[in-house]
Amino acid sequence: METSTRKRSTWAEILDELRLSGSEDILDVGCGRGAVLMLAAHHVPAGRAAGADIWRRRDQSGNSRVAAERNAILEGVDQRVSLVEADARSLPFESESFDILVSSLCYSNIPTAEGRDQALSESVRVLRGGGRLRIVDDRADRYVDALRRVGCTEVTVRRLDWRTAYGVPGNQQILVSAQKVSPAS
Ligand SMILES: C[S@@+](CC[C@H](N)C(=O)[O-])C[C@H]1O[C@@H](n2cnc3c(N)ncnc32)[C@H](O)[C@@H]1O
Repeated sequence: METSTRKRSTWAEILDELRLSGSEDILDVGCGRGAVLMLAAHHVPAGRAAGADIWRRRDQSGNSRVAAERNAILEGVDQRVSLVEADARSLPFESESFDILVSSLCYSNIPTAEGRDQALSESVRVLRGGGRLRIVDDRADRYVDALRRVGCTEVTVRRLDWRTAYGVPGNQQILVSAQKVSPAS
């Protein structure tokens, strides 16, 4: 299976496992051209899906906001997808704006541990209490402590099939799942 097809099937499974009602607000941090974002939008026919990115070309070929916009149209989800140019370390959203946060291969592009911690803290800030995160990244296991520190529970780590990466044995990508503690709990 080609890498992009593998990414799609992996994320389809991750999104299915969330058992969404279909009206959630989802944020994809580092959405790039939108492979995961458009899939997420299909899972919330009565909700909305936002993508935030700085659209850096060295991280993904053909990366641009225009490419993401075009893909939203091609997927028929442009009416409920919004795109925002934003750095993951400083998200321009109100606190508690989203039910679900997804991110694929973004935080590892932030060069320092402090920067990655800041991005994770921002990700949790914009989630509603009880909201859930699903992060796939190289070495995503190193995000566990930071997520717990900023108020997440149910933090689990799952190694994905090695073919989810770029076919490099030993360079397995990791799924980290977590839930923001809700004020009542
Ligand atoms: C490898 S690409 C993955 C894109 C997309 N999530 C996917 O899986 O197809 C990494 C993405 O993270 C974005 N990115 C890198 N650093 C970022 C930052 N500090 N804030 C927001 N986005 C960032 C890049 O512009 C790029 O779109």
